[in-house]
Amino acid sequence: MSEPVLALRGVRAELGARPVLRGIDLTVGRGEVVALLGANGSGKSTAVRTVIGQVPVSAGTVELFGTPRARFRDWARLGYVPQRTTAAGGVPATVTEVVSSGRLSRTRFGVFRKADHAAVRHSLELVGLADRARDPVDALSGGQHQRVLIARALVAEPELLIMDEPMAGVDLASQEVLAATLREQVARGTTVLLVLHELGPLEPLIDRAVVLRDGCVLHDGPPPRAVGQHALPGHDHVHPHSPADAHPLRTGLLS
Ligand SMILES: Nc1ncnc2c1ncn2[C@@H]1O[C@H](COP(=O)(O)OP(=O)(O)O)[C@@H](O)[C@H]1O
Ligand SMILES: [Mg+2]
Repeated sequence: MSEPVLALRGVRAELGARPVLRGIDLTVGRGEVVALLGANGSGKSTAVRTVIGQVPVSAGTVELFGTPRARFRDWARLGYVPQRTTAAGGVPATVTEVVSSGRLSRTRFGVFRKADHAAVRHSLELVGLADRARDPVDALSGGQHQRVLIARALVAEPELLIMDEPMAGVDLASQEVLAATLREQVARGTTVLLVLHELGPLEPLIDRAVVLRDGCVLHDGPPPRAVGQHALPGHDHVHPHSPADAHPLRTGLLS
């Protein structure tokens, strides 16, 4: 593999006094689509947040495009869609304002030029929300809101796109728009790290899966095909798999 676009090596992190990441390795090569899987609380969001700098690392290293995180400056190369929370509050921004905020890193002194306005319109078209451009975001459904966050991440045309559970709480119509948008990004060579609770409809896009359990890497390799149906909490009943089928991820280890 050429130099990874993203590399976490031996990363440890604590939240409060609690060890949440206990020495994880996670690399994403150029053009790769990697899924970060694991049960709730296994440390997926924390791992991603060490990359963004929202969680400090107590040991190990994080590199972006071959540069140690602390020295990395070129944040326009990275698009980030945080895990959505329901709490809104505050002054309601319009759809265009939220998406435009993602373009600031590409402007000089925050001044929007023609190409920047065009990029905002284009990314709203990508996620099927061009007709909602002037609406306040709090007038949107959960799925539409998520599409706005994705448009915001795409508007700077990032080389690396990190999304934390983009499908969670999103209606089916929006899920299809999301999957199509992501397919298009992947086709144009964008590198993607997707935090997912289950592979679901994005499965065909995934090159490799890294599975966390309790802050450690449990699996790093081909995406476990059955993970969505078999190994999640509430689905830990026994299936009559053949012995050849006894992949650890199909036998409840993920939950
Ligand atoms: N701000 C915080 N303070 C203390 N513990 C936290 C905080 N945020 C998350 N945690 C804990 O860290 C663990 C990992 O959380 P998280 O990375 O969000 O997991 P995941 O995204 O895989 O569901 C969980 O046990 C969670 O309760
Ligand atoms: Mg999470």
